[in-house]
Amino acid sequence: MDRTIITGGTPLRGEVQISGAKNAALPILASTILGGGECVITNVPRVVDVVTMGKLLGILGAKVHYEDNRAVINAAVITSTQAPYDLVKTMRASVLVLGPLLARWGEATVSMPGGCAIGSRPVNLHLAGLAKMGADVSMEHGYIRAKAKRLTGAQIYCDTPTVTGTENLMMAASLAQGTTVIENAAKEPEIVDLANFLMKRGARIDGAGSDVITIEGVRELHGSDHDVIPDRIEAGTYLVAGAITRGAVTLNRCRPNHMDALLMKLREAGVEMQVDKEQIHLNAASRLKGIDIRTLPYPGFPTDMQAQMVALMTAAEGTSVITETVFESRFMHVEELRRMGADIKVEGNRAVVTGASRLAGAPVMASDLRASAGLVLAGLAAEGTTEILRVYHLDRGYERMEEKLRGLGATISRHKEGTASAEIH
Ligand code: UD1
Repeated sequence: MDRTIITGGTPLRGEVQISGAKNAALPILASTILGGGECVITNVPRVVDVVTMGKLLGILGAKVHYEDNRAVINAAVITSTQAPYDLVKTMRASVLVLGPLLARWGEATVSMPGGCAIGSRPVNLHLAGLAKMGADVSMEHGYIRAKAKRLTGAQIYCDTPTVTGTENLMMAASLAQGTTVIENAAKEPEIVDLANFLMKRGARIDGAGSDVITIEGVRELHGSDHDVIPDRIEAGTYLVAGAITRGAVTLNRCRPNHMDALLMKLREAGVEMQVDKEQIHLNAASRLKGIDIRTLPYPGFPTDMQAQMVALMTAAEGTSVITETVFESRFMHVEELRRMGADIKVEGNRAVVTGASRLAGAPVMASDLRASAGLVLAGLAAEGTTEILRVYHLDRGYERMEEKLRGLGATISRHKEGTASAEIH
């Protein structure tokens, strides 16, 4: 299993190019099976989850060709409507093929995603919405089975805003007969990106990005090109990398207008930034102050930036309270940060960080994608060497992270099991 080794303490300086958003690319790729024409998707990040989605679409019978950051997909013919356990267990977002398969092919069998390191993560709202659209949904031997001759438009209310749930229902409704209204929909920029792609293909969608989305079903969708939006979570992670090392970092090709809550919180913590349309210049020369943060659905503070901010707050002066309201057990990184000398107490869904700790490098274990990012950031700031185990989590969602950090001056390398040192480029 790969390990990442970091020697901390160097202020990061320089420019970094932000990749396409994993969480926009995944639903966009899944949605290609809603129609037969060729789809050319650019700015697709080369991360393991995207590769997994490509494999899944291939198993379903679509023709998938990835080259650099471009994906060409043609789903004129589908040979299977089953998403197998082996793939779904490695990536929960596989459930995104449920809505498209059902809407276009009248049936779908998708392995039920299990729990994961950050909580139980049910898909009940995806299923309830599809049932409201007339699908016959059942559970058999760990698989979700859904059938419908043609879905019909419906009024759907989500008890809680769900990102992939909203995406699944929006995709399914695009081919349903009649009009669907999704109320209390999630409002993330990735949902807007998916809606824009579907509309280019002939879908009729109104209100994506607000909490009421109206979809008028059409008979079929055609192929189209699309350029995926920049990854706001990757961008945020590099901002924290600059801040935690007291460096000066410029992010290129990002979308600051998708990052309001994070930018405001970083400023409150004393981080200076100059923001342009597609660029952010960060200068973290001054002292960091402890702040309170509460994760919420968009436009609130993203839960996917929580672990990184806990790491940052260990370096800030004073006490910070970070409240996680989206996922129930998303503090697995805290134990590991404590092993590096951080002073953090977890009380229910709150982490209380007493800052200004001088972190010391240590061997630590990554538990999920964003927790891994939090550990990398702590390692960049720590004195001495940090060794991160189970680093494959990082590869699921960060494109060439070690290479990008080395470009900013970090001392970081990837080691394969059984080798002394093997830098990955
Ligand atoms: C997506 C993101 C993930 C991010 C999360 C929250 C993708 C591929 N993943 O995950 O990176 O951390 O949004 O921003 O885009 N819930 C239910 N029933 C459901 C569905 C969700 O109760 O049927 C609950 C969840 O347990 C959670 C909350 O709703 O408490 C939000 O989850 P959701 O938005 O669905 O997360 P994902 O779409 O899985």
